Amino acid sequence: MKNPSCPECHRRDFLRRATLGSAAFFTAPGAFAEALTATPPMTEGPFYPDKLPLDTDNDLVRINDGMTPAIGAITHLHGKVTDVKGNPVPNARVEIWQVDNKGAYIHSKDGGLNGPKRDGNFQGFGRFMTARDGRYYFRTIKPVPYGPRTPHIHVAVYRKDKRSLTTQCFIDGDKGNAKDGLIKRMGEPARHLMVKFAPIPNSKTGELSAEFNIILGLTPDDGHE
Ligand SMILES: [Fe+2]
Repeated sequence: MKNPSCPECHRRDFLRRATLGSAAFFTAPGAFAEALTATPPMTEGPFYPDKLPLDTDNDLVRINDGMTPAIGAITHLHGKVTDVKGNPVPNARVEIWQVDNKGAYIHSKDGGLNGPKRDGNFQGFGRFMTARDGRYYFRTIKPVPYGPRTPHIHVAVYRKDKRSLTTQCFIDGDKGNAKDGLIKRMGEPARHLMVKFAPIPNSKTGELSAEFNIILGLTPDDGHE
């Protein structure tokens, strides 16, 4: 401090030390690190497939080696599965299911696997095991609304075949979100389920990239890999 009797110098010195102090706090590893907010759960809903499609891979736009792709805005849905300390969770099975471009699930009480109501080229469901860095990837379509629901993709995460999380993700900024009953019931935490569907630069077919990072309510002490 240049002049101990100068109040402005005191204030500056205090601010400098406070800033240094908080920087040291926020970079502290392990127990002192801020915990992340776990991705909030949401209901599975009635349409988890009762009969799985023959193809359950992470490309929902094409069934097996079918020639005709599904109708819809092709979306690359990706992200990282971590614990609340930000450590990757590898070998977790991520599943997604959603309606086709006509608003029908593959569930037999909705469109059915091959029902006339459905786009038979949309797989409707897919699975992917997270890599060592916790990353997952799906090629799917941008979800559309159906009935009273705003567009959403259902997501489930399993560790060692046990369901760890059931939730849904949404299109950030979609005008239907404000009227969706489940979002309204969840309130403020629903912001953790909002995903930006961003146009991929130079994509001639208008493909989108959507990043949904999933934080499981685990710590490294829970013994996950
Ligand atoms: Fe749904």
